[in-house]
Amino acid sequence: MPEPIPFSTALRERSTAAHSSSETSGFMSDLMQGEGSREDYVALVAQHWFIYAALESAAEAMRQDPVAAAFITDRLTRLPALEADLEFLIGPDWRDRIESLPTTQRYVDRIDAVGATWPGGFVAHHYTRYLGDLSGGQFIGKVMARRFGFETNGIGFYVFDDIADPAAFKDAYREQLDAAPWDEAEKARVIDEVLLAYRFNTELFEDLARAKAEAAA
Ligand code: HEM
Repeated sequence: MPEPIPFSTALRERSTAAHSSSETSGFMSDLMQGEGSREDYVALVAQHWFIYAALESAAEAMRQDPVAAAFITDRLTRLPALEADLEFLIGPDWRDRIESLPTTQRYVDRIDAVGATWPGGFVAHHYTRYLGDLSGGQFIGKVMARRFGFETNGIGFYVFDDIADPAAFKDAYREQLDAAPWDEAEKARVIDEVLLAYRFNTELFEDLARAKAEAAA
């Protein structure tokens, strides 16, 4: 009998195409290629604030769940770093000067819904954001720092002070995914939820591009 494919591997393989769509979205690739402005970067940070407020408040509730709890750690928490970044980038009144875009609102509503009811769905959203932040995010943070002259202020979101070795952290996270007591049907649902999370991220880039075009018109 061939060894079954570990769930974490199946998840990565099934989401490769969705990852490429996100990664190559015009708004993101412009930012990465030096064609996006500081304002574009700030607009993205602002949307992250709404998303992580939802994700991290769901995490607080999910700490009670034995399966979801295995994934939750304060070492990942991003909200304080995002708030410090926004204060630096926008000013002390940042909260009055940002609003969520339509896709962000739908993304937040979905995190709120699964975060209150479905541990596997919560893990799907947790995985899509945090493993991404610890992967491509590390590179994105460095590019933004170089492009806009940030040292730590402004890119704190990408700096995980409590995770010295992101590769080792991601390996341990994948072991937790492989150890989750999900049957095949639940694993398929979790993968579908990851694909949905990717779709929100891609559509958010599209919203950001649209908002930018409208502001320029
Ligand atoms: C410019 C944009 C992006 C770049 C350059 C990028 C790059 C990468 C790279 C190189 C990896 C593989 C790292 C490794 O094997 O350890 C990775 C993994 C990952 N990325 Fe991205 N990424 C981008 C955008 C995104 C977005 C928007 C999301 C979704 C929110 C995302 C979610 C993920 C996830 C979940 C993984 C981990 C896959 C796994 O190992 O299971 N990425 N990314």
